[in-house]
This record gives sequence, structure tokens and C-alpha cells, in this order.
Amino acid sequence: SVDDRVADLLSRMTLPEKVGQMMQYDAREELEGIVLEHHAGSILHTSPEKVLRAAELTAQTRLRIPLLVADDCIHGHSFWEGATIFPTQLGMAATWDPDLVERVARATAAEVAATGIHWTFSPVLCIARDLRWGRIDETFGEDPFLIGELASAMVRGYQGGGLGDPDAILATAKHFAGYSETQGGRDASEADISRRKLRSWFLPPFERVAREGCRTFMLGYQSTDGVPITVNDWLLSDVLRGEWGYTGTLITDWDNVGRMVWEQHVQPDYAHAAAAAVKAGNDMVMSTPGFFPGALEAVERGLLDEADIDRSVSRILSLKFRFGLFENPRLPDPERIRAVIASRDHTALNLEVARRSLVLLRNDGTLPLNPEAGARRVAIVGPLADDAQTQLGDWAGSSGQVDWMPDGHPRAQITTVLDGLRGLAPADWSLEHVEGAGILDLTDDPAGTFPDGQPRPPIAVPREPDAAQIAEAVAAARRSDVVVAVVGDRIELVGEGRSTATLELVGGQRALLEALAATGTPLVVVLMASKPLVLPEAVRGAPLIWVANPGMEGGRAIAELLLGRIEPAGRLPISFARHAGQQPTYYNQIRGQHGDRYADLTQEPAFAFGEGLSYSTVAYRDAAIRTPRVGVDDAVRARITLSNTGKRPAHEVVQVYVRDRVTSVSWADRELKAYRSVDLAPGETRTIDLEVAAADCTIVDASGERIVERGAFDLLIGPSSREETLHAVGFEIG
Ligand code: IFM
Repeated sequence: SVDDRVADLLSRMTLPEKVGQMMQYDAREELEGIVLEHHAGSILHTSPEKVLRAAELTAQTRLRIPLLVADDCIHGHSFWEGATIFPTQLGMAATWDPDLVERVARATAAEVAATGIHWTFSPVLCIARDLRWGRIDETFGEDPFLIGELASAMVRGYQGGGLGDPDAILATAKHFAGYSETQGGRDASEADISRRKLRSWFLPPFERVAREGCRTFMLGYQSTDGVPITVNDWLLSDVLRGEWGYTGTLITDWDNVGRMVWEQHVQPDYAHAAAAAVKAGNDMVMSTPGFFPGALEAVERGLLDEADIDRSVSRILSLKFRFGLFENPRLPDPERIRAVIASRDHTALNLEVARRSLVLLRNDGTLPLNPEAGARRVAIVGPLADDAQTQLGDWAGSSGQVDWMPDGHPRAQITTVLDGLRGLAPADWSLEHVEGAGILDLTDDPAGTFPDGQPRPPIAVPREPDAAQIAEAVAAARRSDVVVAVVGDRIELVGEGRSTATLELVGGQRALLEALAATGTPLVVVLMASKPLVLPEAVRGAPLIWVANPGMEGGRAIAELLLGRIEPAGRLPISFARHAGQQPTYYNQIRGQHGDRYADLTQEPAFAFGEGLSYSTVAYRDAAIRTPRVGVDDAVRARITLSNTGKRPAHEVVQVYVRDRVTSVSWADRELKAYRSVDLAPGETRTIDLEVAAADCTIVDASGERIVERGAFDLLIGPSSREETLHAVGFEIG
């Protein structure tokens, strides 16, 4: 059995060999030293050449224990030039479609596995809270239920038909837990969060994937109540391994162990830090070279028992045995690479996801662009109309987090919005492209160094509006029947350590939009933004499409939507603020805070969680409860009738929220508990059944326990989380 094989191997290992198994090294370091001297257990941020070289070196070691190869392939294979890059996780979340997300993960796993990578650090289960946080794009948005649905699908997709499946890779649930509860949106700040709050919103998606067999969990960078998550015994031992019975592998985030010494100053040296991390149950230690001597010293000084190390090493070896690495080290396979990387099927899937991820937030009839309504001369302006890199988003080739990759993605493989319109607009239309405004300039100098001596990323300086550039765009708009402005944020404003102080459009974009609005030419705004941004007042009536970073096929999908070749289908997985100072704006806030608005601004979001229009209109009526009184083990059933009252097909996402009318402790006014996607032909009417388990109508009580409180509830059914769009029907749990 695997357990016997682990016990046998462990009994033959020296202490340095065991500690080495716990080390995950950055493959940019010298491989000979890592593998031959430090007995590395894993490498990350690699390339096929390095994987092959590392395998050769491993074959020279005494026990020939294969390496686990890991990378952040979080929306496609970001470490392979030309591989498929899908929309970011936030973009995928806008589809509200677990099946689609599972297929994306399956396709990613096949591309990643073919290149010799075994393990992806995905999905991200953090809840989007403060929109200024730089990693909002990596989340599935703000709602724990939707996150759970999509994350579970993604894990299934990666891990496929089980660990023996050659196209399966290991998934990682990250960043456990509470990392996104930042201070002012600043990355990796202390997470001021109670256990009850963790249990209420942050832990449920993690619990779901832990119970469903996600093989690895990654810990975040944050501390809570002064304790770095790396050594948070309550979360790691009591909750994760205890209550949830999790038997998988834990990996730290980048140098979490070292950070306790040089950054957080909560451990005096690496020996103490290593001892604390191992005792807390960490298995793989990411990029902390000092862990190797530190752990050896800790055992020598009696700070740590070898038995504690054995526990972690057993979990790592068990993962390697179960994954079949000893029989097949899963090296890069040129034939499979040729067959799967950016295959026709994956490209078609990518286009399908990009289409489904587009969210139409406002329309006045200008969209879709229509020759009968005079749209023949189209000006396409704005800094993101032809920006391939921003379209891909973070963790994609030579941008953002992986900017050490020399090659990135060939421009020719990416369809920008401009390419898309050029390819699809009717032959007798005229298209005029003007960039119209810049976003940022990068300074040459990095902004100093981190405390460990690493250079910080260069500072991005917003560009001053350029009057001549804007005048050119205005002139193009004046010559046109309609102007499409593609604006948003750029990759330098996104990612780890790249939170923003504001949510405004930066550079010349605001001035550009104001000038375009003043021309009187109908204006369509495409907001291509890694997260919800605030648009200037001047365009608050203009038709608006939001798209996250939509991947390689994104520009084509956007052009199709503008031209009415497809119907809008996306729904917001996250609320949009009117002003950065409104944070937080998520919909499921605790009720009864009567002072919870500003004297100078409503607390209503600009656009709420769940919103999204179609080119048609859909009416809801006759909401009815079919089970007015249920027991805790029963299902609550309701019914509602939808009619497509417009002239085009509609894709509707019918959302079901639960309101517990009276709770023993303060609680959210409503929470998403179910949804159903429905396609309606023009004029079609359908009655649909909806169901929520009474056991899911829970709150977390004062002691932190999740319970159902018997009494009166409402099901709120409708097209978004906004109260005024919802149809309430009452029921009782007795
Ligand atoms: O996986 C990431 C994590 O999300 C943030 N820090 C670095 C890790 C490895 O690249």
C-alpha cells in the first residue's frame, strides 16, 4: 500500500534528505545545488529544459525521489509561450457557469501536464472585499456560495479522473484563509478578522473543496490577531485537519517561513521559524532557502522532533506515490505538447468563455450597433482597444506576476477589440482607430527594495492627459455615427503587491471620456478592467460593457457583442462602487447599521452583485412558494414565471437569495443560495422551479457555530441582488 511504501522510504532517509523533501525551490536558482546538495522536493516557476535537467539530477541522487513541479497556471498555462490563456478567474466568475469553469480547468490541466508541470496554485478562494486590493482579478468575486460552486468545479477540472489520469494535475485551494480581508486594500496586511467572521464568510468555500478532495492548500501571507497564518494552530490543526478531516498537503506562500524572521519579526531566527512552521503542520515550504539549515539546526537544538518532520514528509511522499510519480515522473512530452497546447478545441472553448464573461451593464438602444440605426462609421478609441497584454491579464506570459518570462505570448495569437471589429464589421462600414489617451508610464527605477533585498516593482506613474491625443479622438468621434471607447486599468496596476489607492480611471482616460461625451456622438464604453472601477459622471448614462481581462479571444468576443452576433450573458460576480471611499460595497453586509452611509454619498453600489442585462427584456411574475412550512431536512421549493418580452433571445440567470427574518445575532440581510440559467426565445414564457435546502438557511451564532434557526424566512427571487428587483415569498422552517 501507499502507506507501506511511504514508511519504507522514510525509514531509509537521512534527516537532510527529509528536510529537503519539504523544500520547494524557485527553479531560477542553481539546479545542481538545489537537487544534489539540498535534496529538493519540488520546484516552481520553471521551464521544460529545467524540468528535464532537474530530472537528470534527481536520477543521480541516492534515493531518486522524483520532484513535484509546480506553477501558477491560474487561468491557462501562463508558463508556456503561446499556450491558451483564458479569461481571469473574475472573468470566469461572470459566466456563473460551473460546467464551463470545469472545462477550462480540464483544458488547462491537459496543457500544463503535457509540459511536465504537475501542480497548479489554483483556484483562489479568497472573497473579494476591498476593491482596491490588487488581487481582485484572481478571485471568483464576493459571494461565498458562488465561489464554492466555481472553485469546486475548477478543482474537479484540474484533478480530473483521479491522480492516475495523465491529464490531471494537482489543484491548490488558496490563500487559506482571510488573506483578502486587507487594511485599505493593501496586499498582505494584517487581517483583522474574528473567528466568527471567518466561519461566516471566508471558510465555507475552503471547507467545501477540502471535503471534496482538493489535494493541496496554500496558506496566505497575512497574520490574524498577531499570529502569522503559517503558525495558526486553530485554523490549520483544529479546523482544517481536525473538523474537516483534511489529509492533503499544505504549502506555505512565498517565503512565509522566512518572513516570520525578516519581515514580521515574530521569530528570532530560522531555527525557531522552521520549528514553529513544522509543528503547525506545514508540509512544503515555498522559497525559503533558510529553512534547510534552520530545520536541521532546530532538531539539533531540541526545538523540533524528527517525528514532526516525518509527519510532513510522509504527506509529501504519499502525494508523490499516489500521483504515480515514482512510476512515471511525468516529464514534458513533445507529442502531447503539439496536440494540446492552444489546440483548436481549447481555442474554441476560450472564445466560448470569453463570450459568456461579458457583462452588459447599461444600454439605451445604441447596442447592438446596427446599420439601420446609422452605425456605419465607427470610431474605436481608448488605450485598451488594441492592448494585447492587458487583455490577457495577470499571470500570463511576460506581464504582471510572471514578468521574468522572456517571451510572453506572441501578439499574433491574441485578438484585440480592434482586431475583432476589423474582422467582423460589415465590409461597407468605416472603422477609425485612435488611441486617444495613455494610462501610465513606468519609471525606470524600482521603488527601492523589500526588506530581504529583492527589488520592488517599478512605480507606475499615471500619464497626464495629452490634449493633442484627446483632440484626435474627439475629431474621429465627430466624424462617426458612434464611438466605442475601450478604457480600464493596465497590468502594472494589478497583482500581488499592486493594490491601488483609488478606483478611478488613471491617466488621460477620464479626460478622454469627458471629451467624447461632450461631442454628442453616441458613445459606448467598454470597461476592460481587472476589477470594478469608477467611471466619470459624464458617461454615467452611456451604454456600458464590463469585461475583466478576457484572455486571448476576448477582443473577438467583445466585437461580436458590440455587433449583436451574440447575446449578452454575463452577470456581475462582484459589486461596483460609486467611489473608492465607499468600501466595502459587497451586497451581503450585516443589516441594521443605520449609520452605515455617508453624508455626501449614498451607500448604494453603482452596479450590484448579480446584475447584467441582455439585449432583450425579461419580466418576472407569479412568484409562489410551494412548501410554506418545511423541516430542517426538507427542501424549500418555489416557482416563478419568466417572459422574454423583447425581440431577441435572452440568457437569464435567475437568482435565489434567502432572508432569515429574525436572527439571534446580527446577520446579512440576504445571501445567494441557488441560481438557474435559463435561455428564452423572443416571446417565450416559462415557469421554472427553484429549490434551496432548508439546511442551507443558516447563520453563524455568537459561539461561532453554523446553525439553522427555526422561524420565518423569505426566498427572494430575481435577476440581481438589488432589493427592488427581487420577488419575495415567505416560508417557515419548523
Ligand atoms: O501562488 C503564488 C501566490 O498566490 C502568491 N505568492 C507567490 C505564489 C507562487 O508564485
